[in-house]
Amino acid sequence: MIVPSAFYRPLALGAPAPLREQPVKVERMIHFVPPHVEKIRARVGDLAKQVDVVLGNLEDAVPADAKEAARSGFIEMAKANDFGQTGLWIRMNALDSPWALDDVIEIVGAVGDKLDVIMLPKVEGAWDIHYLDRLLAQLEARHKLARPIQIHAILETAQGVMNVEEIARSSPRMHGMSLGPADLAASRRMKTTRVGGGHPGYGVLTDKDGDAARAFYQQDLWHYTIAKMVDACAANDIKPFYGPFGDFSDLEACEAQFRNSFLLGCVGAWTLHPTQVEIAKRVFSPDVEEVKFAKRIVDAMPDGTGAVMLDGKMQDDATWKQAKVIVDLAKQIADREPTLAAAYGL
Ligand code: GLV
Ligand code: MG
Repeated sequence: MIVPSAFYRPLALGAPAPLREQPVKVERMIHFVPPHVEKIRARVGDLAKQVDVVLGNLEDAVPADAKEAARSGFIEMAKANDFGQTGLWIRMNALDSPWALDDVIEIVGAVGDKLDVIMLPKVEGAWDIHYLDRLLAQLEARHKLARPIQIHAILETAQGVMNVEEIARSSPRMHGMSLGPADLAASRRMKTTRVGGGHPGYGVLTDKDGDAARAFYQQDLWHYTIAKMVDACAANDIKPFYGPFGDFSDLEACEAQFRNSFLLGCVGAWTLHPTQVEIAKRVFSPDVEEVKFAKRIVDAMPDGTGAVMLDGKMQDDATWKQAKVIVDLAKQIADREPTLAAAYGL
């Protein structure tokens, strides 16, 4: 365990100081792109205006013989575009793969000043985060980067789920965590063949009542893991996300899965197909009435202190802080979406 006094120390001489607070950033969807595909790279500038985060995927779904092309393609697209408020992330290859070290060294060396977050797959325990944490500090020092690159873990192995709490509190570099249902299903030896979502065989049967027909209700396979991940993240002030939904032909099921995770506390999900972007916006955007009320709180308490009554409800410093987070997020969304800007009154 790292002692409290050392927790926020930079891990290399000359590396930027670790963040003490999460930046307020809207991250309703982490949109995956394959950087080795030239046609897709050419569209990244437009895409960046439509999504909250563009993630260059270097790991699974990129064939082994395209790994280097994906890495250099990512560097090219990072250099060629101004991402503005849109987050720029990579999903690097797993630490036990032959590509992981060069992914980090080459990408941080070339475009580390543009990279916000590294998504680390197949995280098993705090030791995986500590390894990347130190390596990033060394590279940040070498390349004189001004701000630390954050780490986002994918929760997708049985051991990772067992260690989820220590992963969440492993480093001030932790941005958040995503559920990886496909690898997790394999790691757990679940009897499924899907990327997220439910399964028709997993459910409960109503009680026997003579000869009456019994109803069968399908249940959510991911409830336990998402709730466990949300607790670990919320307790450590980092962000929980639902991961991928692989059936692009079933937008209703995708929306149901995203909404379940939102209701349980997740702040966003991955989008692997353009049709999923609108769903994520719908599900994960702050509620219009909530934003309007939050704005009234912020307006009523210009310096954020004291107490005021609004519609019979007491507001004080603590509700002001909650309201400020909602208003700041809504402003970021309003900047890029005129319809929501009008609805929010921003
Ligand atoms: C994502 O990486 C998954 O395995 O579901
Ligand atoms: Mg995976």
